[in-house]
Amino acid sequence: MINSLRGMNDIICDERFTYFLQTAERIAKNYGYCYIETPILEETSLFKRSVGESSDIVGKEMYQFIDKGENDVCMRPEGTAGVVRAFIQKKLDRAGGIHRYYYYGPMFRYERPQKGRLREFHQFGVESFGVESVYEDASVIAMIADILDALGIGYKLKLNSLGCKECMPPYREKLISHIESVEEEICEDCKRRKTTNPIRVLDCKNEKCQELYADAPKLIDNLCESCAQDFDKLKKLLQSYDIAYEIDTNLVRGLDYYSKTAFEFVSDGIGAQNAIAGGGRYDRLVEFLDGKPTPAVGFAMGIERLLELVQMPQTKREGYYIGAMDEESIELVLQLAHQKRKNAKVVAEYKKKSLKNHLKGADKINAKYCVVIGENERNDKTVWVKNLEEKTESIIPQSEFLA
Ligand code: HAM
Repeated sequence: MINSLRGMNDIICDERFTYFLQTAERIAKNYGYCYIETPILEETSLFKRSVGESSDIVGKEMYQFIDKGENDVCMRPEGTAGVVRAFIQKKLDRAGGIHRYYYYGPMFRYERPQKGRLREFHQFGVESFGVESVYEDASVIAMIADILDALGIGYKLKLNSLGCKECMPPYREKLISHIESVEEEICEDCKRRKTTNPIRVLDCKNEKCQELYADAPKLIDNLCESCAQDFDKLKKLLQSYDIAYEIDTNLVRGLDYYSKTAFEFVSDGIGAQNAIAGGGRYDRLVEFLDGKPTPAVGFAMGIERLLELVQMPQTKREGYYIGAMDEESIELVLQLAHQKRKNAKVVAEYKKKSLKNHLKGADKINAKYCVVIGENERNDKTVWVKNLEEKTESIIPQSEFLA
């Protein structure tokens, strides 16, 4: 037997998956977003330049290979880079104005699989281009809250500001001084981060390191006036939307492209991998990938992590089950099913069965109506129908059934 690869799962008739997508898509459209789909395979350099060489994703987790045409390619580990590439390639950065996109699909990261952490997982995400103001950051966060509320999922929102090109460099210097003061005792990863991307030390999972950074300078205390004002405004907006948050000064995110607003939604009850959504502002990425400077903000949520938490609405019986009592009625059953499917969900049974077994079959697929045809119905041009919700039975003309 051949099994799926480690950390890669099948999704088979999972109603929560489709319910999640329908809900998220409806809400994204309510916020003015339209659908974008980008290829799963991209040039490796796209992710190196955007997600960043120092990130774990690029450093250790890429599904990267040389294709038959000698191109260095990579299965996308996340969605933002591809959307930004498409945005620039289609010259939408030159068009000006506001562009809002949502997407969903598989992402690939060669991580150590565990509960909530897969090698192929699915994200739903949005990217908004062209709005500089934190109104858009608040709106993007409100959209996540709306999606989670609609799905009955509880959450905690963690918020931070990563500053901008004015305030980040002097902060980085202060942080490096602090790291140097404890350098003897920090882990090997942090020693490496000191040169590649010092702020990543702040979310090191090593407890000893965390203790050593406890009195490190905080980004939030070192923001320039404009970033500090924006952050205050964002907090006020979230309060006005009744969205509770907590400031997490160590929230730096694992991807290098962020500046200013950074956030993560976490949820209890799904184990250690409790981040269900994350995102932030990335005002410099479009320019960094050779586009016209364009402010941008977005997020992505991990669908598999959310599925465990989705509260499904009570499922109602739906559609028709139709079957024959004798061989001679089977083709008529198929004809009627074919025509009725123009306006309703119809599942046809191909084998003749007793009435009792047809009723069982209808119940199994949660049909609202069980429709059966035998010799009498065939001769009278009628069908026998049972409404399985109201438990009522009737015989009606075939023309009425099709109407
Ligand atoms: P991210 O935080 O790397 O951000 O991923 C977003 C979400 O994807 C996480 O919060 C988590 O729910 C889910 N996720 C990540 N890795 C795995 C995994 N191995 N298995 C299962 N679920 C996972 C990004 O990807 C950014 N592109 C988000 C963004 C969009 N920022 C701006 N725009």
